[in-house]
This record gives sequence, C-alpha cells and structure tokens, in this order.
Amino acid sequence: RSPGTSGLPVASGSGRRRFPQALIVGVKKGGTRALLEFLRLHPDVRALGSEPHFFDRSLMPRTLDGQITMEKTPSYFVTREAPRRIHGMSPATKLIVVVRNPVTRAISDYAQMLSKTPGLPSFGTLAFRRGLGPVDTAWSAVRIGLYAQHLDNWLRYFPLSRFLFVSGERLVSDPAGELGHVQDFLGLKRVVTDKHFYFNATKGFPCLKKAQGSGRPRCLGKSKGRPHPHVPEAMVQRLRAFYRPFNRKFYQMTGQDFGWD
Ligand code: A3P
Repeated sequence: RSPGTSGLPVASGSGRRRFPQALIVGVKKGGTRALLEFLRLHPDVRALGSEPHFFDRSLMPRTLDGQITMEKTPSYFVTREAPRRIHGMSPATKLIVVVRNPVTRAISDYAQMLSKTPGLPSFGTLAFRRGLGPVDTAWSAVRIGLYAQHLDNWLRYFPLSRFLFVSGERLVSDPAGELGHVQDFLGLKRVVTDKHFYFNATKGFPCLKKAQGSGRPRCLGKSKGRPHPHVPEAMVQRLRAFYRPFNRKFYQMTGQDFGWD
C-alpha cells in the first residue's frame, strides 16, 4: 500500500485509475443505489460502493482496458456547477439519471429526513408555504423533482445523446429490463439479466440471487424501500398538479413518457 494524493492509503495492483467514464448523477431517492449495485454484477464495471470523490483520482478503483469506471453521486443532477465541472474533466462522460415520480420522490426524501431528524415538522408544513399556501419550491424535497429545470442546466454542456434516463418505477417492476437498456447505453454485453433477480415478498422489492463476493441472496439495506409517512390525499393531488407541467416538459425534452400523470 502506498499513500495516495489524498494522504489515504490506496491499494496497489494492476490496471490504472481514471476518471469515471459513466456517472449516475441522480436523482436522490430515485433508486440510484439499486442501479449501481445491480451494475456492479457486471464483470466489466468497476465502481466504488460509497459515494465518492470525483475529484480524487486516487480513490477511483483501478480498471483494466475494456472495463468501465463508475460512481454515483445523486446530488450532481441538482448542483448548478456540476455539469460544467464534469464537462471540464471529461466531455465524453456518459450520464445516467434515475428518475421517479417527483411526488413519491419528495415523500421518500422526507421519510429519509424524518429518520435522521425525528422531530421534523409535517410534510405538508414543509411542502406548502404558510401551511396550505403555494408549493414551496425552495424546499429541497420539492426542488429536486423539477427535473426539466435541472436538465436544462446540463444541456448547456452535454448533448441529450450523452444521457440515459432510467425509470425508477421500472427499476422496481422490471429490473432486468432497465438493466438491459443501461448495459446497451454503456456499450456492455448484456450480462446482467433476469436470472440475477428474484422478488423478495418480505422486502417488497427485487433482490439479488447472488450478491457479489458472498454468493448469497442479498437485498438492499433497510434505508432502501422504507415505509413512507402518510400524506393527506389532497396534498398529494396538489403536488401532482404542481409537477404536471414540469413533467410534461421533461417528457418532451427526453422524448420519454414516464407515466407519472
Ligand atoms: P424508498 O425507500 O422511498 O422506497 P436511492 O438509492 O437513490 O436513495 O433510492 C432509494 C429508493 O430506491 C427506494 O426508495 C426504493 O423505492 C428504490 N428501489 C429501487 N429498487 C430497489 C430495490 N431493489 N430494493 C430496494 N429499494 C429499491
């Protein structure tokens, strides 16, 4: 082991470190962990498990020729500076965005906040100004779901052809189907297929028949597929109406209808 530029020890071995050729840039609570874990089954994908450190080369896994280095950092999609910086590093980077119904995504985000901060005000208090006033677009849980706006910012640097949009809903209902598109997009052989998955009724989600390494069945952790707090139907409807025009614009921009409305 030798010290890396970060001062952290890095494993030495064959292969070289390089900036990721593909990034899962978003969105938070879209299913980004599931996608990365499923892709890691592919022998030609090297990825860091934790959320890295794009600017720290020494932490990237070593890859052999023909292998793809990947990472996921869901905050990139909503970070103003991210597209310029990533383009500056490597304009050929392939960008994957897992998107999910923005209303469900917001509630999922809130469930995560609540798990970290139990005394948080109710979802409705945070999502609507003055309780039942207009939707509060300054609240991150709401803002992240304005996919068309965020994508606009990225399209100033990257053409649409550099993106793959993965349906978070289909990643649950048909993981092998979505993984097929992702492998095609990355120029990989379709190695990850329906043979790798089974539906775990207790978890309520697809799980892996054989986890990487252990060879035993494995589901994602407790923080993935969490129960959501109850949100009154009227609030859900108001949020759906709020997002509808943004969703339509997003479908138009991507040429894909995600079926959220
Ligand atoms: P919920 O916890 O709201 O159900 P991320 O990894 O981007 O934070 O996304 C978390 C979401 O991934 C979960 O949100 C869950 O719905 C979704 N997901 C998709 N496939 C999954 C799987 N196979 N197991 C668990 N969660 C999965």
